[in-house]
Amino acid sequence: MKNIVILFSGDGTNMEVLIKKLHKKELLVSKVITNNPHAKGIQKAKDLGIDVEVLDHKSFNSREEYDKALVNLISPLKPDLVVLSGFMRILTPIFTNAFKAINIHPSLLPKYKGKDALLKSYESSDRFAGVTTHFVNDELDGGEIILQESFDKSGMSFDEFKTKIKEIEHEIFYKSVLKALN
Ligand code: GAR
Repeated sequence: MKNIVILFSGDGTNMEVLIKKLHKKELLVSKVITNNPHAKGIQKAKDLGIDVEVLDHKSFNSREEYDKALVNLISPLKPDLVVLSGFMRILTPIFTNAFKAINIHPSLLPKYKGKDALLKSYESSDRFAGVTTHFVNDELDGGEIILQESFDKSGMSFDEFKTKIKEIEHEIFYKSVLKALN
């Protein structure tokens, strides 16, 4: 069975759905790793019986040193795919050249790359917003698109908007993982 490693930084809702949908069915989640010792997702992964590792970026002096440690942690697991599930770190080529990886981003890329995409997308005068999954390369939020889904955000409150984004994310994320593994 193919195996994946998941990286996350926060609530871990996408990670949770992914594990519930695919772990021990379509693939194995060998390990999940977070850069944030206080991430809410840590408990979620533990409750699902997944091995969790904390690699705190604050213990490293540079992005490169952090990415080297990340690569050293992941490489022995020989994952078929590394899945960025709300991993809020800019990754250097040390990481991006080491693994086949995918990411989920809360905008219709190439619009609103990088930080605060959700808010930028909500506040824009665009009629449509959405979610994109894509392969990771050395350009931030710039790799080949796997899946993208949009919706009409006219008249939505910010809370309604966030709920809609999460709903789409939870639906397209696991499908994107399966697609990327094929
Ligand atoms: C998701 O909305 C994801 O699209 C976003 O972080 C959130 C994580 O939520 N990722 C990015 O903004 C990447 N640049 P979660 O922790 O509940 O899965």
